[in-house]
Amino acid sequence: MAAVGRPRRSCLAVPGSSVKMLGKAQGLPADQVFLDLEDAVAPLAKPDARKNIVAALNEGDWAGKTRVVRVNDLTTPWTYRDVVDVVEGAGANLDCVMLPKVQTAAQVHWLDLTLTQIEKALGLEVGRIGIEAQIENAAGLVNVDAIAAASPRVETIIFGPADFMASINMRSLVVGGLIPDYPGDPYHYILMRILMAARMHDKQAIDGPFLQIRDVDAFREVAKRSAALGFDGKWVLHPGQIDAANEVYQPAQADYDHAELILDAYEHYTSEAGGRLGAVMLGDEMIDEASRKMALVIAAKGRAAGMIRTSTFTPPAE
Ligand code: GLV
Ligand code: MG
Repeated sequence: MAAVGRPRRSCLAVPGSSVKMLGKAQGLPADQVFLDLEDAVAPLAKPDARKNIVAALNEGDWAGKTRVVRVNDLTTPWTYRDVVDVVEGAGANLDCVMLPKVQTAAQVHWLDLTLTQIEKALGLEVGRIGIEAQIENAAGLVNVDAIAAASPRVETIIFGPADFMASINMRSLVVGGLIPDYPGDPYHYILMRILMAARMHDKQAIDGPFLQIRDVDAFREVAKRSAALGFDGKWVLHPGQIDAANEVYQPAQADYDHAELILDAYEHYTSEAGGRLGAVMLGDEMIDEASRKMALVIAAKGRAAGMIRTSTFTPPAE
């Protein structure tokens, strides 16, 4: 079954170098915020960004949001300092560390051990801080199963389309958009590969950014494609993309109602009182154990998103 965990329909990127945006993000309706130390922050601004992020995590009001910090990747000289400063400074107010451009399980092991060290040194609960693994190049995708399995801390596998496109020489500059010369969806394989690893290891699968931030209709189109496959959420780079992501990655009300109805009906009909039936009709539709599993996925996503059902199941009169 799909991993549900913390809701992550919308994952808002916030540059750690901008005190203003770190403040503004707190009032926005994103499920998750990730405070960035990587590509949105220039090398010379990284030390100050670490300080801004620690202060924002400790002093800000992030109620209702999953709090994540994206550190720099392990080919840079910055990763250990990012992790040590942020987790020592604000570990109690942090839910996950996002590791970009992950290429091997060993990189996740390094982060897992480093987090454990800091948690032990500070008396924090060991293992509470999760890991988000961003897949952004061929090595990461080829090793994605091992990366997903590398630590119980891993909560999400994230597609990073911009870096990925650059790393495989994809001939387009429109991140996440279709390419006119290619007759299919050029991201289909990558998304499916990430989704399979995520589902095999019970992690969430998160789609990456769409850079044309003023074109919300185009954002919606791209988001709908990964949502249709089963992705749990997508990055948002601008407040204007948040509502669209929240809507696209939660079930439609009619689907949520239908899923809850299937679950109630199936529970009734398989019970003693309902006749111990395995396959039954619900209106014009035949439902069985597989229908229950599909309904569970939709219902769990709807419940995690706080949806309220608008219909109830009434067993037929004897
Ligand atoms: C995000 O980090 C991307 O590279 O798309
Ligand atoms: Mg990237």
